[in-house]
Amino acid sequence: MNREISIRSERPDDGPAITNAVRRAYANVAYSDHREHLMIERLRKLEDYDPRLSLLAEIDNEMVGHILLTQAEIRDTRSSVATLALAPLSVVPGHQSCGVGKRLVGEAHRRAADLGFVSVLLVGIPSYYPQFGYEPLSRYPITLPFEVPAENCMILSLTPHALDGVSGLVHYTDGWLEH
Ligand SMILES: CC(C)(COP(=O)(O)OP(=O)(O)OC[C@H]1O[C@@H](n2cnc3c(N)ncnc32)[C@H](O)[C@@H]1OP(=O)(O)O)[C@@H](O)C(=O)NCCC(=O)NCCS
Repeated sequence: MNREISIRSERPDDGPAITNAVRRAYANVAYSDHREHLMIERLRKLEDYDPRLSLLAEIDNEMVGHILLTQAEIRDTRSSVATLALAPLSVVPGHQSCGVGKRLVGEAHRRAADLGFVSVLLVGIPSYYPQFGYEPLSRYPITLPFEVPAENCMILSLTPHALDGVSGLVHYTDGWLEH
């Protein structure tokens, strides 16, 4: 039976439940460093953390998934363009492959566009994100500040032509990268 998935923004007391869901989602993922929840905890302490872009998925009031979009900038010598970084995306075991991730990504994109953002970039599973319209980042003169296989780097325009003429290095918000 398909049970209804509801999506809502993070509330002030959701921190422990998010940490728990993220840890469970990545517990058996081979390529994970199992530190995704620590990144969220670091980011939550920052002034520019926007809980409107931290979304929880619930089924029958049980938290089954989470997605976070964080502000970033694509900078070159002449300009700085706002974007969003998607990470992490987490669906707890037992609820995977039931449409939860799909709902979270779709809703995150909708809310990001409503807030005026025009693009989202990520480092993730190459076979998962193209269904949402993500393209290889290598199609654009945009680079990340760390070494990662090109196939894992993707970007999405939320509005037509959002990436026309955009180039430079991605600057993540403080706390996104571990120091
Ligand atoms: C990867 C993950 C986010 C996908 O979310 P999900 O809720 O399990 O998957 P969905 O139900 O949204 O899947 C939507 C579609 O993508 C496919 N899909 C699911 N996981 C996939 C994967 N790892 N690779 C490729 N396709 C995948 C599904 O089969 C489904 O296809 P369909 O629409 O043709 O039926 C989730 O399984 C998860 O949290 N995994 C552990 C943590 C992780 O790897 N996070 C992502 C890091 S980039």
